[in-house]
Amino acid sequence: MAGFNHKLVVVLCGALLAVTGLAAMAETRQAQCIDCHVESVDPSIKRLARTVHGNLPGDDNASCISCHGASEAHMQEPVKISPDVSFGPNWPSGPELRSASCLGCHEERSQVLWTGSAHQQENLACDTCHSAHEPKDLALDTREAEQLCLSCHPRVRAEMNLPSRHPISEGKTACSDCHNPHGGLGESGLHQLTVNDNCLSCHQEKRGPFLWEHPPATEDCALCHRPHGSVHDRLLTARGPALCQQCHAAAFHPSLPYGSEGLPGGAPNQNLLGKNCLNCHSQVHGSNHPSGARLTR
Ligand code: HEC
Ligand code: HEC
Ligand code: HEC
Ligand code: HEC
Ligand code: HEC
Ligand code: HEC
Ligand code: HEC
Ligand code: HEC
Ligand code: HEC
Ligand code: HEC
Repeated sequence: MAGFNHKLVVVLCGALLAVTGLAAMAETRQAQCIDCHVESVDPSIKRLARTVHGNLPGDDNASCISCHGASEAHMQEPVKISPDVSFGPNWPSGPELRSASCLGCHEERSQVLWTGSAHQQENLACDTCHSAHEPKDLALDTREAEQLCLSCHPRVRAEMNLPSRHPISEGKTACSDCHNPHGGLGESGLHQLTVNDNCLSCHQEKRGPFLWEHPPATEDCALCHRPHGSVHDRLLTARGPALCQQCHAAAFHPSLPYGSEGLPGGAPNQNLLGKNCLNCHSQVHGSNHPSGARLTR
């Protein structure tokens, strides 16, 4: 019994049924549905039999009514009245109702934060991404899912094709490595609470504590990096000295126009024109060197 969508069934059938009667009831209903929705007329029914839902053990089996509701009225007047929960194509129910039918069995695991997530608030429903009747649920295929995401997120598509990028198109990272499409506790539906926790889950060598911290790196990697892609090397938000000068405009040694005049030591240094601050301050993420206070080693 555990798998049945009790709430929905009970609401829809009324409190008439004793719990013990449900399984039998469900089976009869399922049979009734299939009486009309014969496989020959409706090939998606046949495909359903090859899905996870069509093959759950025993009483957990997802019958027609566990997703579509008991649909008494529909059975009386099938051409006029929709089933209690329809995912379309003719009379689709609203997104809340459609998702509620899935959530009856999927309130846990990665779906636990669905309510309140950006996607829920934007009126997406479970079936926007998942196809319950199809043996191959495209959302569970990383590459197919990515295309699905990008169809609604064109800006990300543009970003991930920039010269410097996380290797998403290359198949080394996927949207779902970083995002939970069902919603997260922190910002941007990330699996982790903060952007830094997200980055550090893969780039552990950037995790401190360092003897000499660089405050922005401890605070938010996104102060200097874009997560999807950038026109600047290393996913940086800005190029060369400009990046550093957003915060260090008044650095004690004048750095514009990257001449050597004001630098400690003062010797002309061609490198300054090109590679900038990092020539000397190479440890921008923090330093463990005893004399790395200036992040130079
Ligand atoms: C008496 C025959 C009959 C029975 C019994 C029946 N249906 Fe239908 N159903 C139909 C017909 C006819 C349509 C409309 C088909 C069309 O227009 O493509 C339909 C349409 C649907 C649709 C599509 C809704 C939409 O928005 O496009 C769903 C879902 C559905 N039925 C589910 C069920 C379920 C679940 C049951 C069992 C609880 C059931 N039906 C029982 C005849 C029936
Ligand atoms: C796990 C939930 C689930 C179960 C179980 C389920 N359906 Fe569906 N049904 C859906 C969803 C979601 C759609 C929308 C199409 C899709 O996502 O694949 C749908 C679409 C339909 C449609 C209309 C579109 C089409 O492809 O023809 C009919 C008719 C239908 N279901 C009937 C049934 C019948 C009859 C059963 C039982 C044999 C059943 N469904 C079991 C979730 C379910
Ligand atoms: C009657 C309970 C029930 C209902 C209703 C139900 N599911 Fe499931 N679903 C399960 C169970 C049980 C599994 C298999 C174990 C698991 O992965 O949780 C499953 C598995 C899945 C999976 C993973 C499939 C795979 O191949 O690994 C997806 C995705 C899914 N369900 C989506 C949905 C969507 C979308 C709906 C609503 C249209 C829905 N479910 C309705 C019980 C249900
Ligand atoms: C924006 C697209 C999208 C929406 C909307 C969506 N999902 Fe998913 N879902 C995915 C993707 C992508 C995966 C695969 C995630 C992964 O590989 O980590 C997935 C995985 C799953 C799984 C299997 C893995 C797991 O964590 O259990 C289930 C079950 C599931 N979704 C159910 C649902 C339910 C229920 C809803 C509605 C409340 C829903 N999904 C809404 C995209 C979506
Ligand atoms: C049907 C369209 C649609 C699909 C498909 C879709 N999204 Fe979204 N998504 C939206 C909308 C609309 C918003 C809210 C506006 C925005 O932030 O762009 C959103 C917001 C987001 C956010 C921001 C969340 C937040 O809390 O601020 C992330 C991250 C996201 N989507 C990732 C994904 C991923 C990953 C996928 C694929 C598994 C996906 N989306 C598929 C429409 C979609
Ligand atoms: C390496 C981790 C990572 C990967 C992979 C990734 N993202 Fe993101 N994404 C992030 C982070 C981090 C943010 C939040 C940035 C911020 O708040 O400054 C974000 C923000 C977003 C947002 C909301 C803000 C915006 O930029 O519109 C959307 C939508 C989004 N991502 C979609 C996607 C999609 C779609 C994919 C796959 C094509 C994807 N992301 C892959 C880490 C990632
Ligand atoms: C799911 C794992 C994962 C997460 C999370 C992740 N990255 Fe990466 N990152 C990678 C991989 C894989 C590469 C490519 C490494 C390679 O090809 O050697 C990479 C490369 C990079 C690069 C170098 C890019 C270049 O042009 O060489 C930067 C910078 C970077 N990541 C920053 C970040 C930041 C900032 C975050 C958090 C927003 C983050 N990463 C989150 C996996 C991840
Ligand atoms: C103050 C700006 C700044 C902040 C904040 C910052 N980075 Fe960087 N990061 C850089 C610069 C500049 C480079 C390029 C270094 C080079 O080319 O030698 C870089 C390069 C990288 C690289 C690729 C090269 C390498 O060293 O492996 C990764 C990965 C990376 N950063 C991850 C992170 C992570 C994770 C965070 C947050 C914990 C972070 N960065 C915070 C400026 C920053
Ligand atoms: C988002 C703002 C921000 C950015 C961008 C930034 N920094 Fe910093 N940096 C700080 C802060 C805050 C401190 C700590 C200042 C203090 O303690 O007085 C600091 C400290 C330093 C120090 C050590 C100074 C000292 O007094 O010990 C050096 C060196 C440094 N940054 C170099 C860089 C370089 C090189 C870049 C460019 C790759 C950069 N910073 C980008 C905010 C930033
Ligand atoms: C030629 C090497 C060199 C270059 C290039 C360089 N610095 Fe420095 N910087 C140093 C040295 C050495 C110190 C430490 C001086 C000291 O401790 O007396 C220093 C100190 C600093 C400090 C600490 C100042 C303070 O008030 O304590 C900051 C911040 C800083 N640099 C930022 C930058 C920025 C931003 C750039 C690029 C625009 C840059 N530096 C380029 C060598 C360099």
